[in-house]
Amino acid sequence: MTTPSLPSQPPRLPAGGFTARRLISIDDLSDAEIAYSLDLAEYYAGFLNRSEPAPQRLAGRTQINLFFEDSTRTNLSFDLAGKKLGADVVNVPVSASSIHKGESLVDTAQTLAAMGADIMIVRAKEEGLHERLDKLLSCVVVNGGAGALEHPTQALLDAATIRSQFGRIEGLTVAICGDVKHSRVAGSDARLFTRLGATVRFVGPAGLMPDNDQFTDIERCKNLKDGLKGADIVMGLRMQFERMESGGKDAAQGYFEAFGLTHETMKLASPGAFVMHPGPMNRGVEIDSALADDPERSLILRQVFYGAATRMACLDALVGAP
Ligand code: NCD
Repeated sequence: MTTPSLPSQPPRLPAGGFTARRLISIDDLSDAEIAYSLDLAEYYAGFLNRSEPAPQRLAGRTQINLFFEDSTRTNLSFDLAGKKLGADVVNVPVSASSIHKGESLVDTAQTLAAMGADIMIVRAKEEGLHERLDKLLSCVVVNGGAGALEHPTQALLDAATIRSQFGRIEGLTVAICGDVKHSRVAGSDARLFTRLGATVRFVGPAGLMPDNDQFTDIERCKNLKDGLKGADIVMGLRMQFERMESGGKDAAQGYFEAFGLTHETMKLASPGAFVMHPGPMNRGVEIDSALADDPERSLILRQVFYGAATRMACLDALVGAP
């Protein structure tokens, strides 16, 4: 993979240090901590790119990955990231755990924390669960995806990917397209990119837009022509059928004809625009294969690469050796 030259020295800690002790929402990080995390992700990307062993900043630390919802990229990249930094990583086999004997999610998490966890990555749809765990557990709690609400490490890795291509986020226009309503990625991306100085737009049918009282500062476009105009990044989203009520399913009817991302529809964006997608993709539903697989226009695999590097950065910043 071609990536720009990557730094061989770690970035300097923010002036007041990295003081966040949880990552449940992007808002848990200060601007300086966000900038540091992105620089640190770039530093770790260098080790991955050169296939070099990374500093063992998590040696002796225990990391527990507790995923109550399905995951491929997020779970595996947290697993890889922890191992690359020398942590003891435990992946909880949720489908074979006591949850099926009626144990509550909180009891499961507390039991695991009592085994000496330093950091726990939790994916669950229950609203407020991460905040509750943060109060109850002595370990650092990281949000690996919370229902339709937040996915902060995905937003950070998306920002790291964009920055690796454009050298900046500030001043770019990002069109987030599709099932925004059910997407935790859309919400976290919008919050983070706006803070980093990008202009963000939501593009899609009205039935797949968030409620009107949410994201009031973000422009909404009901067609690709308006939505993609001047966009530097076009972020496709998966149709999240599992979260839709019948109304959402109606909105998804004929979606590809009106909103599908193809080489043709990318002509509506800036000439040098790139397509991204957090995955998993539904080919032919929200994006066509020719575009998704085109290395000249697609940053989708680079997102996966930065997924591991960014999660190394988050783990190190939150619980790495001082
Ligand atoms: C997303 C997720 O699970 O939030 N994927 C990911 O983490 N890379 C998006 C999705 O489920 O569509």
